[in-house]
Amino acid sequence: MILKAHLISKSFHSHEKVVLFKDLSFQIKKGQAIAITGKSGVGKTTLLHILGGLEKPDSGEIYIQDTIMTPSNSAFLRQTHLGFVFQAANLLEDFTALENVLMPSKIARKPQNINYGLHLLDQVGLLQRAHFSSKLLSGGEKQRVAIARALCNNPSLILADEPSGNLDQTNASLLKDLLFSLVKKQNKSLILVTHDMDLAASCDESYCLSNGSLISHKHATI
Ligand SMILES: Nc1ncnc2c1ncn2[C@@H]1O[C@H](COP(=O)(O)OP(=O)(O)O)[C@@H](O)[C@H]1O
Ligand SMILES: [Mg+2]
Repeated sequence: MILKAHLISKSFHSHEKVVLFKDLSFQIKKGQAIAITGKSGVGKTTLLHILGGLEKPDSGEIYIQDTIMTPSNSAFLRQTHLGFVFQAANLLEDFTALENVLMPSKIARKPQNINYGLHLLDQVGLLQRAHFSSKLLSGGEKQRVAIARALCNNPSLILADEPSGNLDQTNASLLKDLLFSLVKKQNKSLILVTHDMDLAASCDESYCLSNGSLISHKHATI
């Protein structure tokens, strides 16, 4: 098991209490790709952040490869096992594509392997953009850099939040092929939040987040 969520709950309090999910359990194995769909505002991003240790649940536990996540080890577990692709690429605009790709190893205080960074950019078809300032890149290119960056620490699990949400159809389809080929080739696990039903159907299993629960749809074709 790469990741296991055990009875996690999360609510927000603004004018009134909003329960996003209650006692939700979920797990993902090595090499498995899982989609999470659901209407806007149901809590998909919050769930992904909680699974990846970027936000705390109100109750419940997250295990990454059998280690329970705590406030003191969550950064280490994230850096060691997880790669994030955010909805908006979230690149640091003042840095080059290559510097962005290598940022996770810098944050983890690991030696920066420039050749490995170039190799990752090559895998997403952007070797020739390595030294471009990231603000000069197109939307599709930024998302591809974001995927290369998610792979920087060689994570076993990639968490991707509507990675093709801001892209036109051609770029969205390129990005989808790229993500799945990387996951397959390197036997990585993937949790993909998406509105795109085709993309969800490309995963081994999909869940719809609705009324605070995950409803499973197993895909018979895979
Ligand atoms: N820090 C926060 N404080 C209060 N409400 C929040 C916070 N973060 C998200 N929310 C609310 O929680 C709900 C779910 O948000 P989100 O997880 O981004 O949903 P989704 O990704 O499914 O669109 C939304 O109504 C959002 O406004
Ligand atoms: Mg969201």
